[in-house]
Amino acid sequence: MDGVTDFPFRSIQKEYGQPRLIFTEFTSVEGVCHGAHKLLNDFLYDESQRPIIGQIYGITPDFFRQTSILLCHLGFDGIDINMGCPAKNVAHSGAGATLITTPIIAQKIIAAVQTGIAQWQNGANPCDCPNVSSEIAKDIEDRHQLLPLAYQGRGRQIPVSIKTRVGYDKPVIENWIPRLLETGISAISLHGRTLKQHYSGQASWELIGQAANLTAQTSTLLLGNGDVVSYQDAVQKAKDYHVNGVLIGRASMGNPYVFLEKLPAEPTLFKLALEHAQLFEQTYANQNGYSFLPMRKHLGWYVKSIPHASEIRIKLFQTNSATEVKQIFQKYGLVE
Ligand SMILES: Cc1cc2nc3c(=O)[nH]c(=O)nc-3n(C[C@H](O)[C@H](O)[C@H](O)COP(=O)(O)O)c2cc1C
Repeated sequence: MDGVTDFPFRSIQKEYGQPRLIFTEFTSVEGVCHGAHKLLNDFLYDESQRPIIGQIYGITPDFFRQTSILLCHLGFDGIDINMGCPAKNVAHSGAGATLITTPIIAQKIIAAVQTGIAQWQNGANPCDCPNVSSEIAKDIEDRHQLLPLAYQGRGRQIPVSIKTRVGYDKPVIENWIPRLLETGISAISLHGRTLKQHYSGQASWELIGQAANLTAQTSTLLLGNGDVVSYQDAVQKAKDYHVNGVLIGRASMGNPYVFLEKLPAEPTLFKLALEHAQLFEQTYANQNGYSFLPMRKHLGWYVKSIPHASEIRIKLFQTNSATEVKQIFQKYGLVE
């Protein structure tokens, strides 16, 4: 999730919730290929976060091809293409969920990613990508050298998947899913809303179930998504709608335990919130233009269901460091 699932967030989620699969924030291939070096922050991860999928979005097939070479070189376990984002700045450019209305372009983009992966497997490097700046290519090469040897090797399989919605302004499962299946992708993650719905109303798991019928006789997995609030909810929906897996988004904000079958004997939500804040500082504090601000919303989510939540939240929203967060948590007896 953009602005949410950065390196520190994913690290905490993996440590305390153990989700089986995790995705980066979506990252613009146009941005990467126009030299926006800062976007490489989205691709930071460590070995504890595997299996980890890099998610990209955009509209220019050749930029997808080049960015795929970068993602392979960075050691990602898979590449996911966003065809589901409803945000105006994305959808108005023809990217994200608008691709549902242009299936031929969507297929070209998928083919470009598949080509990029094959080229990397055959020896292509970041410096071979014409639109990738030498600074970005060097940064990626440096990170590549630090990967475990198994991830430096070119022989591994790198699946391509799509994240999408059930339609643009109305559901079009019957037309859209077969177009995706023609490309031989490994998985489709389907959010049960149209673009027009954004996040309003309820996700339609009936439509997700219909899509699962369409993928059932193929080698493509169908992962359902939308409004899942607990492990038990996910298991029930997988059973009821015959999907191969379930993705949880918003319910994980401030609550990595959502992925667990049982809550830990002694939940330590505030200890881990503090750990999150410390990791946020460690990860980004030495970068130019560093700000603690993006961390504050996470702190608000961690305290959302405790007594005096709004009073504590106001104080947390004024913090600028993990030390200040600790002082507030201590004042309210939330950590020792
Ligand atoms: C703040 C925010 C950012 C999001 N960013 C992304 C993104 O970068 N890529 C993506 O595939 N979906 C993104 N989504 C959509 C979620 O992945 C998910 O499809 C949606 O929230 C429905 O699932 P949920 O009810 O479990 O949250 C985002 C959602 C939110 C609320």
